[in-house]
Amino acid sequence: MSERSAAEVVEAVAGAFTRLVGREPAGVWSAPGRVNLIGEHTDYNDGLCLPIALPQRTYAAASLRADGRLRVHSLQRDETVEVTLAEVTPERPGGWAAYVAGVLWALGRSGQRVGGLDVVIDSTVPVGAGLSSSAALECSVAAAADELFGLGLMGSAEGRERLARACMAAENVIAGAPTGGLDQTAALGCRERAALLLDCRSGETRQVPFDPARHGHALLVTDTRAEHALVDGQYAARRQSCEEAARLLGVPTLRDVPVSGLEAAVTRLPSDEMRARVRHVVTEIDRVGRAAAALEAGDLAQVGRLFDASHASLRDAYEVSCAELDVATETARAQGALGARMTGGGFGGSCIALVPAGSVEAVSVAIAAAFEERGFAPPASFAVVASGSARRDA
Ligand code: GLA
Repeated sequence: MSERSAAEVVEAVAGAFTRLVGREPAGVWSAPGRVNLIGEHTDYNDGLCLPIALPQRTYAAASLRADGRLRVHSLQRDETVEVTLAEVTPERPGGWAAYVAGVLWALGRSGQRVGGLDVVIDSTVPVGAGLSSSAALECSVAAAADELFGLGLMGSAEGRERLARACMAAENVIAGAPTGGLDQTAALGCRERAALLLDCRSGETRQVPFDPARHGHALLVTDTRAEHALVDGQYAARRQSCEEAARLLGVPTLRDVPVSGLEAAVTRLPSDEMRARVRHVVTEIDRVGRAAAALEAGDLAQVGRLFDASHASLRDAYEVSCAELDVATETARAQGALGARMTGGGFGGSCIALVPAGSVEAVSVAIAAAFEERGFAPPASFAVVASGSARRDA
């Protein structure tokens, strides 16, 4: 976990830009990683999610270029990629730079006047940890593009929704990951000490207070370091199975299956596997509404119970957990967590736990010991607070 402060990273990325590009950047913009408190694999089913933004952010120092080219350097990878915007495709530039080029491509496709940029990227969001480093990258570039090209979208909720859609298109079309809109909406819409209740059907959002410290608790994130890649087939397979189930049930999406009619509906599906997938999605959407209500009522114990139920459903019905995530959540619970669950797409990545503020260290140590005992790679645990969305830093 990076210990660098925001001010240090801003200074470092601006300094690197000046060295690499030969002039000072027009500005530095950043966007956060996220954890989803609850509402997993619901976004592409038009459901509800409840993310918070992390203090960990991706920073983009940027300036306009007159030649229609994008030249982007990553300090993490020590690599520069250059591409002409008119030539951006799912194959070009490929790799991490696709997330940057894809944003400019998607803004252009949506009718915005965008052009070339010099960009230098630095980040404190761990990559491959299921904490949406890709959305943080997309949204930091979107915030830079918004201001440098005078798009004026960051200033309104509706504009931010359009930016989020462009970032989603970048990820879906140019980077080739068929994800929903959870991550980008979180990176552009979350506020400090709040979770964002997101209705993926209407696009409506509501800020829900999230400040567990007020109740003597902390949100502990554990990056299991277990392999996690959304571009592989598992995520797409889950999504496809939901779409097929909705088609068989004669509804536009699984959002249209009410939890009260769930058991009657699933009898019409052809396999146990598909029934289980639908059960997860429909009950998970219901849990999000209940978790938001519990947060509004200050009932953290109930939020913890919903975390546990969500994890069990993701593990047993949706089958996207893994041994590392199960061990981390079980250990956190045994150490007194109110609840624990995997967060993000799954198949590795991170878990979250609501733990007494005084046990952050003890729970982290216990999870590390449990991992060592089973021969897993050492995990990284850190407490987080709900932070702000994309912004200009310098
Ligand atoms: C990944 C995707 C999101 C969402 C989650 C699961 O993080 O990027 O769109 O589908 O998985 O909730």
